[in-house]
Amino acid sequence: MHFSGTTPLARRHPLAPDAVLEAAAVFLRQFAAENPAAGDPHRRFAEVAGEVERYGTYVHTPEELAFGARVAWRNSARCIGRLYWNNMTVRDMRHVEDPDGIAEQCFEHLRLATNGGRIRPVISVFAPDRPGRPAATLLGEQLVRYADDPRSAQRVELAKELGWKGGETPFEVLPLLVQPGGGRRPEFYEIPEDAVLEVPLTHPRHPEFAALGLRWYAVPAVSDMVLEIGGVTYPAAPFNGWYMGTEIGSRNLADADRYDLLPTVAALFGLDTASDRTLWRDRALVELNAAVLHSYDQAGVTIADHHTESTRFLAHVEREGRHGRPVPTDWSWIVPPLSGSATAVFHRYYDPPDPDLRPAFLHRAPAATCPVAHTSPGRPEPLDEYLVPKRPG
Ligand code: ARG
Repeated sequence: MHFSGTTPLARRHPLAPDAVLEAAAVFLRQFAAENPAAGDPHRRFAEVAGEVERYGTYVHTPEELAFGARVAWRNSARCIGRLYWNNMTVRDMRHVEDPDGIAEQCFEHLRLATNGGRIRPVISVFAPDRPGRPAATLLGEQLVRYADDPRSAQRVELAKELGWKGGETPFEVLPLLVQPGGGRRPEFYEIPEDAVLEVPLTHPRHPEFAALGLRWYAVPAVSDMVLEIGGVTYPAAPFNGWYMGTEIGSRNLADADRYDLLPTVAALFGLDTASDRTLWRDRALVELNAAVLHSYDQAGVTIADHHTESTRFLAHVEREGRHGRPVPTDWSWIVPPLSGSATAVFHRYYDPPDPDLRPAFLHRAPAATCPVAHTSPGRPEPLDEYLVPKRPG
């Protein structure tokens, strides 16, 4: 498994007031520079300084929040889809902090993002951490995940421990798990059917493919990353774009530690698996990826192919260059996991990732991913899989 570069982690402890203020100053300066019409930055900074002095934190304006969330996307060194960073719908849900409200708004997020198949990039930003008052978090990598995906093992275990009855059939959608702030027991919520669009997988030339009974969901909504803007931490801020086919066809369904379907696909297509050198894995990958793109197209669900997305990414690099901005990029994540050298992004290097760059989406630090430690001490940390330095994609 290939891993390179840094994995910036969110802080485990709140920033001291002077550090908040310093981070706020950097952010407000950037906000003012990129939003010249937004009003007097000196006045705004004085206001923020007063709030930080009194409360140890401050409240972003809706404009600052939207800008911060979009720039966090723009700064994501592992994302190939950043051309559209400025077109993300930002849902200001900072007033929502109880698990029921969060779950309900996550479902609404999925409906808005799904948009009948014309996927829209959306982020929902729930309440931030405040001094002495950690906010609620979402447990699990994405809003929608399947119970029989090996990556879900710990979330399945936790859901069952909380009383969820399920996980018996293939491609069963897991319930949403919300961890209230302050270490109370997580709650689980069955995701309503109308919030999850799924695509049954068929192959453009092989009718038998449908009989494999494969499917995938439409909206990849990452829910285990912390959004950090100007010294303020938003630990529940699920965001989504649309899929690039290879994420499903080359990784989710093909990785040996995921659905591991290459042998199955090879058998279906009658490939000679006697030796690695027949390139049966490579052929099976292509067929699986063809099935994914074909099926999403048939279902009218937005999906990018890796060639188009590579070209768009280079357009993004060029456009950012015209604005005088670097594009921090992790080559090992940007090059697609299929036909790397046949895509344009392969053939060059980029500005290196910068772990200190903010606003940013960060991985949660170990202590904060410890959902049941409060209820059953001594148990191994249930969601620590998310910290394994592998490339989940
Ligand atoms: N790689 C993840 C998955 O396969 C999704 C990560 C975000 N992807 C995206 N296209 N926005 O589920």
